[in-house]
Amino acid sequence: MTEVTGSEVRNPAAAVTTGWTARVTGCGSALPERRMTNHELATMVDTSDEWIAQRTGIKERRIAADGENTSDLATRAALAALKQAGISGADVDLIVLATCTPDRTMPATAVRVQAAIGMTGGIAFDVQAVCSGFVFALSVADNMIRLGQVRTAVVIGAETMSRIIDWTDRNSCVLFGDGAGAVVLRAERQEAGQPPKGILSTHLHSDGRHQDKIHTDGGTSSTQTAGKMHLEGREVFLHAVVNLAEASQEALAANGLTQADLDWVIPHQANQRIVQTLGDKLHLPKEKVVLTVDHHGNTSAASIPLALAEAVEDGRIKENDLVLMPAMGSGFTWGAALIRW
Ligand code: ACO
Repeated sequence: MTEVTGSEVRNPAAAVTTGWTARVTGCGSALPERRMTNHELATMVDTSDEWIAQRTGIKERRIAADGENTSDLATRAALAALKQAGISGADVDLIVLATCTPDRTMPATAVRVQAAIGMTGGIAFDVQAVCSGFVFALSVADNMIRLGQVRTAVVIGAETMSRIIDWTDRNSCVLFGDGAGAVVLRAERQEAGQPPKGILSTHLHSDGRHQDKIHTDGGTSSTQTAGKMHLEGREVFLHAVVNLAEASQEALAANGLTQADLDWVIPHQANQRIVQTLGDKLHLPKEKVVLTVDHHGNTSAASIPLALAEAVEDGRIKENDLVLMPAMGSGFTWGAALIRW
């Protein structure tokens, strides 16, 4: 077992200050119709509802239908976010889509979404940081808005993890689900003398020494197949709780804030015990930690925007709330985004 030392690589550049900030003006989500319960999984591999619920907090997950692709879920989530923002696809300058389960090796899934939402100009591309993908995508879009390159962005996390799961491996097949979440970001001028709103900063890390701890056994260049997923769950767990807490502290410190200032934490939803351990490390009451892993499972890049859309929809997140989104995934990749709503 590797010693867990936390992050050795630091990215001190918290935020470029140009007067532009990225405000979230809409959120949306999409889930496949089909629910797969733990009981159903127990008919497929040697497991039980009790084991899965106790070790992970997961009760059910959604599984994409035959022919339902990552871009279909992403498009539905993007359209819902655009509706909430009160704009159309034609108003969008940029799509950044995070996924490790693209429709095709090329072109990017983002351009399929671009065409589907009626966006004829601008830029669309994918980023791949697995479960940290949404925070990485948010960071890319935030920086492009800060630099004045784009005014309106759609950031999407979308996955069909069911397509890379080894359904005979009980160590991994019980953990994942499919879905998509999206946010609309719009450039706003910071008001002089007012505390900043929107994305305050993003903080990203990777450490490729851990690349084999969650991986697929295939890929376009190596095997000409997507391959199936393998993971060392306990190792991932130990690194996740350290890296999520460190990225959270890093984001707070960069903005001169403490955990007491937080209204909501929306962490990557890998395992209820990881989320609870993070909450304990940050000394947060459990009501402030948004938890959706029970009904979504781990949806990789989609997990944070799915949970965010739920917390916005049900009225938990309100204007001026301080929202922290820490993520950790295969690579390892990890990071956090801090947003003043
Ligand atoms: N049903 C029943 N038993 C199982 C199952 C299952 N589905 N899966 C594993 N087991 C068994 C194992 O074989 C092992 O048996 P053994 O002791 O006889 O060898 C036993 O349960 C304990 O296994 P552990 O790995 O020690 O169990 P742990 O408490 O660590 O929980 C889990 C495993 C749920 C995978 C946890 O480690 C975890 O959530 N890890 C992180 C999740 C992850 O890897 N996510 C991937 C994406 S990255 C991210 O999202 C952060």
